[in-house]
This record gives sequence, C-alpha cells and structure tokens, in this order.
Amino acid sequence: MKIRAPAKINLGLNITGRRQDGYHDLHSVMEQLSLSDYLLLQPQRERGWRFFCSEPALSGKDNLVYRVAAYLSKISKGRELPGVRISLYKSIPRAAGLGGGSSDAAAALKGLNSFWDLKLSSEELMEIGTILGSDVPYCLQGGTALARGRGEKLEPLPALPFHWVVLALPLGMHLSTAEVYGALKPAHLGSPRLGTLITAIRDQNRELLHEWFAGGMTNTLEVVAMSKHPRLQLLKEQFIHTDLYPAMSGSGPSFFALCKNFFTARAAASALHEAGHRVFLCWTLSDLSKQKE
Ligand code: C5P
Repeated sequence: MKIRAPAKINLGLNITGRRQDGYHDLHSVMEQLSLSDYLLLQPQRERGWRFFCSEPALSGKDNLVYRVAAYLSKISKGRELPGVRISLYKSIPRAAGLGGGSSDAAAALKGLNSFWDLKLSSEELMEIGTILGSDVPYCLQGGTALARGRGEKLEPLPALPFHWVVLALPLGMHLSTAEVYGALKPAHLGSPRLGTLITAIRDQNRELLHEWFAGGMTNTLEVVAMSKHPRLQLLKEQFIHTDLYPAMSGSGPSFFALCKNFFTARAAASALHEAGHRVFLCWTLSDLSKQKE
C-alpha cells in the first residue's frame, strides 16, 4: 500500500491570541502541494511493525509515523495485527513550515487504519491527529480549507484555482515552530484579516487573489522569523526580483509564490536556484478538474 503525504502551505496565517494551554489561536487558509512524501506499507512475515525512513536523521522514535504506529498498535491490544514494514520516503524539507511531519502522520493514520483493519472513524482519526500536532487534522482532510482554533477546527473552502507554485528556502535552514511562535509579542496578535483571501477563493477571483499576495502581509509569523533570520529578508527580496509575490508558509523558513504561467514559474525557480536557495517547482492540488486536463 502506497500513501501520498502532500506538503501544505498557508495562503494566509493570522495569529489571534495566546491560549492557556501554551498554544496560539489562529486563522489560516491552507492548501496542499504536489510536493509529497510517500509512505509504503508492506506485509512482513514477523508479527508487529518496523519503521524505516529515507532520511537517517528522521528515523528515530520521535518521528510522528513511528508514534502513530506505536499508538495504534497499543490501542488495539489483544488483536493480532498483520506484520507490517513501514517505509517513509521523504521529499518535503523538514522544519520548513510545510507540514511534512504532520502529513506523514496523517498518511500513517489513514494507511495503518486500513492495513490493520482498525475501523477507526474519520472523527476518531481527527481526534488522534489533534493530539499529534496542530496541522495533522488539516492533513487528514486536505483540500482548500480555513483552519481555526489551534488549527484543528476546519471549514472546507471551494478549491483554490490551479496554480504553479515556486517554493524556496535558504539551504540548510530549519526553524523550530515552537521557537517562532515563542518569539511572538502581544503587538503581533490581532483580529483575523483574511477577508480578501477568502472572498477571492469563494468567488474564484484570480485578480483579488493576486491583490492579496501583492499586499505582502499574509502571515503574522513572517516578521518574527525574519527578525531572527535576516537571510529570509534576502530570500524575499530575491523572490520579488523575479516579479512574483512571495509569502512565508507556516513558521517558515519556506517562501512560496503562486503563478499562473509555467514558464514564468520556471524562470523564477531557476533564478532562485542560482541565488543558492533550495527550490521546488510544484503545483496546487485542490483544483482536481484542472489536473485531469
Ligand atoms: O502542534 P505542533 O506540535 O505542530 O506545535 C508545535 C509548537 O508550535 C507548539 O508546541 C507551540 O509552541 C507552537 N504552536 C502554537 N500554536 C499553534 C500551533 C503551534 O503556539 N496553534
């Protein structure tokens, strides 16, 4: 069984307050990308499960896939589970604001639920997902969606019109989500300002969408990450030089720009690659009708 685990981007992210439980309340519009990890579940003769990851640094017990397997086998105590070799093939950069770990966890929840015939409902998977990480529920649901609360309260939106996506991050830079959130000051918090973005998506209005990104204020965490890491300012400026409007995803350091035209996207990706960044040229996943063309 092969399960795709797509990266996510935040088309907009506003942090609205600090919570008692140490998390923050947010409003975010999320979308999935073609850039994906893959999870392979293969029967093995021995009972139990074994976990492998293509990235040695992510092969340990703190990998969310390992934790999902450990948790699901624990709650199904007494049942004989078919032996499984779980292999995770990584392409999504880690600690990059792209939800790679969360998407892997979502893939593991869905995949093992089916492989082990656990019959957990979508609601139960969502509950377990919320415990594992704030982005896991979105990764389970997918599509274009508005996330609120910690990220677990989801409202589906009409599919974002198909776009090419130029994604870039400084080589070797990893940011801890907890650290970026931890550097937020009360002045950064405020009421959500995603109205233009949501209207643009609801009305499928590409011009309004363009205006949203041209405004340059899509993500509350951007100023925080940039003040700690000046290389991000440079990356943003280099992105702007390619005539695209970049936005930071999640807690960074990935920046992305949506682009209608493939050749424009390819030229921007080449320029950013030449400037020494790690670059991916991918596309949005929700507008399935376009992908069938
Ligand atoms: O939920 P997740 O494990 O991805 O969160 C990692 C860290 O990011 C949390 O420990 C918290 O410090 C911060 N966070 C937050 N508010 C959110 C999501 C994450 O403060 N809504």
